[in-house]
Amino acid sequence: MPELFDNHNRRIDYLRVSITDKCNLRCVYCMPEEGLEHLKKHEDILTYEEIKLFVYHAVKQGISKVRLTGGEPLIRKDILDFLKNLSNLPELYDMSLTTNGVLLADFAEDLQKVGLRRINISIDSFDPEKFKRITRVGDLNKVLIGLRRAFEVGFDPVKLNAVILKGINDDLKDFEGFAKLTFEYPVHVRFIEYMPFSKEMGLEMCVPCSEMLKKLNKFGSLEEADSPRGSGPARYMKFKGALGTIGFISPMSNHFCPECNRLRLTADGKLKTCLFSNDEIDVIGPMRDNHPKEAVEEVLKEALKMKPKDHSTAKRNHFVRTMSQIGG
Ligand code: GTP
Ligand code: 5AD
Ligand code: SF4
Repeated sequence: MPELFDNHNRRIDYLRVSITDKCNLRCVYCMPEEGLEHLKKHEDILTYEEIKLFVYHAVKQGISKVRLTGGEPLIRKDILDFLKNLSNLPELYDMSLTTNGVLLADFAEDLQKVGLRRINISIDSFDPEKFKRITRVGDLNKVLIGLRRAFEVGFDPVKLNAVILKGINDDLKDFEGFAKLTFEYPVHVRFIEYMPFSKEMGLEMCVPCSEMLKKLNKFGSLEEADSPRGSGPARYMKFKGALGTIGFISPMSNHFCPECNRLRLTADGKLKTCLFSNDEIDVIGPMRDNHPKEAVEEVLKEALKMKPKDHSTAKRNHFVRTMSQIGG
C-alpha cells in the first residue's frame, strides 16, 4: 500500500470531506444566525462524482480513512447513493460520518444498508432549553430519537460530540447528564474545547479539558481507557463499571499537531492542510481543467509540502471560513 508523508514526517492517511456547507441548525459557535446559504452557487460545489473521483485517486495515493461532514451532511440530496458508491471503493478501509442527528431517526437504517458502520453525533446538552439556545433552532427530542436509533440499527462505535461553552453548558448538571449516559449505553462521549472561529464568541468562552475533568470526577472514578475505533485527536477515559467512555478533545489547551494525520476537502473544492490556517489549495479548478488523476496527485503533493508543523506556523489573524464551511 502506498503511504503519504508530509514535510514534517507525519503520515497522512485521513481525509475529512465536507459535502455541504449548509445546515439545518445554527449552532452559536459555528455559524451566524442568518446562516451562510446565500454565499455559494450550485456550480461552485463539488459534485458527488467529483468527490468520488477525488477520494478514489487519494486512496490510490495512501489515504485509507474518510469522514463525511458538513455543514450537515444528511441534508444533501441523494447522500445514500453517494455513500453506497464510496463504500464500494475497495481500498477505503474506514468510512465514517459526523452529523447533528436531526435527521438520523429517518436515515439510520438506510445508512447502515449502504455500508456506513460508525457515526459521530453532536449533542451539546441534554437540557432542551440549553440545546435550543446553543443550536438556536434545534429540537433535542428529535436528536435523542436519532441517537437511540443509531444503537438499534447497530452502529459501532457511536460517538457523541459536545462543545463545552463557559457559562452555557459547563455546570455540574450538564456533565452529570453526559456521565450517566455512559452507564446506560456503550457510547463514547467526547468533550470538545471551543475553538474561537466565530466572530461573536471569543476565547473567553473556552473551557479547558482539565476543568471539565475536575467536574466529571464528581460522578465516579475515571480511569484511562482504550480508544474506540477512529482516527481523531480524542483521549479517552472511563468510569468504573460504565459501558461507554469519556473522551477529551483539547485543541486549545493541548495541541495534538505532532500526531496530525489529516487533510480536509471543503464542499467548494479546496484542500485545507490545517484547521487553524487560512491557506487552501484549489481542487475544483484543476479537477475540471485537467485529468482528475493528475490533478489529485498534484494537489496532494502540494498539500504535503504546505501542511504547517503546528498552530503557531499556521497563518491565523482572523478566520476566513466559519466552522460549517470547513467541516469541523
Ligand atoms: P474519529 O476519532 O475518527 O471518530 O473522528 P474525529 O473525532 O476526528 O471526528 P469529529 O468529526 O467527530 O470531530 C470531533 C471534533 O474534533 C470536532 O470539533 C473537530 O473540529 C475536532 N477536530 C477534528 N480534527 C481536528 C484537527 O485536526 N484539529 C483540531 N484542532 N480539531 C480537530
Ligand atoms: N469549536 C469546537 N468544535 C466545533 N464544532 C463546530 N464548531 C466548533 C468550534 N468552534 C464541532 C461540532 C461537531 C464537529 C464536527 O465540530 O460540534 O461535533
Ligand atoms: Fe450545523 Fe454542526 Fe455547525 Fe451546528 S456545529 S450549525 S450542527 S454544522
